This record gives sequence, structure tokens and C-alpha cells, in this order.
Amino acid sequence: MPFTVNEVSPAGVAEILGFDCRTADDADFDRLRRTFQVYPIICIREQTLSPREQANFARRWGPLESQDRSTYCHPDDSDILVLSNERRADGSQVGIVDAGDFWHSDSSHLPDPCLITMLYSVKNPDKGGDTHFLNTRKVYEALPESLKARIEGLNAIHHVSKLLNPRVAVSKEREAAAEYYKAREKETKPVAQPIVRTHPVNGSQALYISPRFTIGIEGMDDAQAQPLLDELFRFMFSNVAWQFTHKWKDGDFVFWDNASLNHMAGGGYEYPDTRRMHRTTIAGTRPFYRPLAA
Ligand SMILES: [Fe+2]
Repeated sequence: MPFTVNEVSPAGVAEILGFDCRTADDADFDRLRRTFQVYPIICIREQTLSPREQANFARRWGPLESQDRSTYCHPDDSDILVLSNERRADGSQVGIVDAGDFWHSDSSHLPDPCLITMLYSVKNPDKGGDTHFLNTRKVYEALPESLKARIEGLNAIHHVSKLLNPRVAVSKEREAAAEYYKAREKETKPVAQPIVRTHPVNGSQALYISPRFTIGIEGMDDAQAQPLLDELFRFMFSNVAWQFTHKWKDGDFVFWDNASLNHMAGGGYEYPDTRRMHRTTIAGTRPFYRPLAA
């Protein structure tokens, strides 16, 4: 199909028009895959996807992650996680409400974090619900050489529990969130990830830390590690040219490369103004750092 690719932001965002995820052939898919190596944020407009159709398209990119919160999986396809602020008649939540409310790279707290996250927009609120992106390849490229030298070869510590991270707070809107994180602390270990991550497909380098999941630096006490992380975070958010805010339309199908980005849900909407997304995540491999050839 003769689809169009429009760059919408120098932060690495492309909009795709005239593409149908349900009928794309191998040549279409190859072109889309190559586009994704140039633009780590892709928005395919005007899609109509059932949960099954979304999951089938997602599987073309690689094995899907199994969802760890079965309560919020879609009944028609358990590979689809529902993000929503809708409530049932009995008051229970239909999906995850506060998913991604701080800057993060998806599942970096796991040894093998997901490489690609895909969100299909079923219903947008009248107000709010934007998603913010930060291109951490651009951040790394712009990092002063002295700071690059200080983080060369270091690993950061990532953990899922918000209770262990003073840079974030537990949402009051989500039921039993503190209890959830306490339970997760018992069953999950901190994970070390390279501070500079080499992309497994295109070899680019990106700063691979986030305010949401990064809580320390391996082999460094907090008196040294926290100021260094603060300095890196200050730099990360110092230039709006590395950021992009996606304002959703119903039918948008957006996917992004977690090895090259931080992202965050913007919030700013309230039930009954409904926001509903269907999420699929593509499994990734163990992050690594490979120095560029001199
Ligand atoms: Fe996320």
C-alpha cells in the first residue's frame, strides 16, 4: 500500500497515513520497520483494530510479553492490557488508571525489558490524556564529553516499587497501590541496567535511566550516586527540542522504542470523561553497552 510518512517532530516522531495494520503485506511491513529505526515514535492514524487484530499485528514485530496484571487483560485477547479510567456498575476498575504517570522506559525494572510498546487509542477524553516523549538518543548525543566519561561503563539500579524511590509518589487514585508495591518488593530484586544503552537493532546509544525506575548506581553509595543521577536528569530535561507531546485522536495506533526514549502519561482527565487504550508490548533482550569504535 502506498502509505505516507510525515516527520512531525525532530524529537524522532513520524506520522503514517494510508496504512492499514490489518492488511499490510510483507513489503509494507518492511518499510514500516525501517522507518521505525529512524523514528523511534510512530503514529499510524485512523486504525480500526479489534483486540485480536491488534495482537496479530503486534506479533509481527516479535514475541509479545505476557501481562503480569491479568485483572486488566482484555477478555477477547489476553495479550491486550486495558488502560482506562472506566468503572463498572459495581465500582470496580476496568483497566489500569495511572499507568505511566512519571517519566520512564517500560519495564526497565525487569532483566529483559520490553523493546516496543504499542498503544491503540479506543476512546479519548475531551480534555487531557496526552502522552509525553523524550528522545534519550538525542540526550546522549548532546551530553557533555566530561559527563559521558563519568558514566562510561556504569550500571544503574532499577526497581518497580515507587515506595523505594523518592523521585516519585504513589497515586491516590489507584486502589491498594501501596500494598501492591510492598508485595512487589518482596518478590522482585533490583535490576542493574547500563546507564548508556546500545540499541540492539541499529547500534545507536541512548541514556537509559528514568526518574520512575532508576533508584541508584551499582557499586556507588547514595552520597555519590544520587547527585550524579540528579545531574543526569537535569540534563535530560533541559531541552524541549528532545521532547514531544502526542495529542491523541481516536483510532491512533502509536508505538515506540523503549531503548531510545522515556515517556510519561500526561493525565489531566477525570471520569466520566473516558480514556481507554489497548496496550501490547513486544519482548526485548538484555540491555547492553558497547562502546563506539574509535
Ligand atoms: Fe509506559
